[in-house]
Amino acid sequence: MAPRIAVVGARGLVGETLIQVLKQRAFPHAGIQAVRVRDFTPEQVTDADLIFLAAPAALSKQWAKELVAERRVVIDLSDAWRQDPSVPLLLSGLNLECVDQHQGILASPNCTNGGLVRVLDVLRRTSTIRKVVVTTFQAASGGGRQLLQSIQTPDTPLHANVLPQCDRFTEDGATLEEHRVVQESLRLLGDPGFEISATCVRVPVEVGHGLSVWIEAEQAFNLHQVQQKLQAQSNMEVAVNAAEAPTPKSVCGQEGVFVGRLRLGASTKQLQLWIVTDNLLTGAASNAVDIATALLPQ
Ligand SMILES: NC(=O)c1ccc[n+]([C@@H]2O[C@H](COP(=O)([O-])OP(=O)(O)OC[C@H]3O[C@@H](n4cnc5c(N)ncnc54)[C@H](OP(=O)(O)O)[C@@H]3O)[C@@H](O)[C@H]2O)c1
Repeated sequence: MAPRIAVVGARGLVGETLIQVLKQRAFPHAGIQAVRVRDFTPEQVTDADLIFLAAPAALSKQWAKELVAERRVVIDLSDAWRQDPSVPLLLSGLNLECVDQHQGILASPNCTNGGLVRVLDVLRRTSTIRKVVVTTFQAASGGGRQLLQSIQTPDTPLHANVLPQCDRFTEDGATLEEHRVVQESLRLLGDPGFEISATCVRVPVEVGHGLSVWIEAEQAFNLHQVQQKLQAQSNMEVAVNAAEAPTPKSVCGQEGVFVGRLRLGASTKQLQLWIVTDNLLTGAASNAVDIATALLPQ
């Protein structure tokens, strides 16, 4: 039987994109119920078998466990459960085979992490990575519809500006987003034994997160091999010509991980590259639908 689906947060940027992806892919279902975040109660979704929570983390923390009590499945797109060891954190192209480990709730990672983790996963198969330094250039839509609308409004912080802050600051002087980039990447990679440092920057771009990544390994990198290995991945495209590097504009509306500016750093043991993904699709909706697809009986 095809599942009855509910999308909580269907009016948000992610919820809206999620419903589009379900329809474009002809995901099997016995109805899609669009549910608002405001005044949400579990009774609104008692008919659903599969619930996407494209809603604030507070809503998910409050209701997700109750929602799954009656053998319903919740795919959560917020950061409410991503560090909970009893909840699988699932990234398409990396670990969807762990889908069966769920106890009702499944988490989809932060919109900034997917491309970075997929690239690091490829590189670590042939190199012993020691350190990774990431600087992100994150689109306004990553902060929700209100922030997206603000870039058109003069006198708002992100209008014609760049902000070295995504989400709120934490006591250590970092931001919540920087912690997500580090901690979720390490969890997805299974505590790989290398360090990741991140600076997350908000830019007045509508859709598409860019990441400048510096990687140091124990051995020298072979650029040609790295390029070939990345190109061999499904849903990953590598621009060989530096001038054709992906941009938020060039990848907007496309699923997949887009890589460019592949080059050595100050030594042959250092690699630098640029990654762009559509944060609403690859960073959120497509991944959540991939998780749902992996749950379907084969
Ligand atoms: N944005 C991303 O790139 C991204 C990526 C991965 C994960 N996430 C996570 O996904 C969840 C949803 O994020 P989102 O970006 O979709 O949030 P959003 O666009 O801000 O939407 C969230 C809710 O805000 C309300 N809303 C939306 N547009 C509105 C408007 N014009 N006026 C008044 N209220 C409005 C809606 O509430 P009602 O339903 O009550 O109408 C909507 O469901 C969050 O937990 C977020 O952290 C986001």
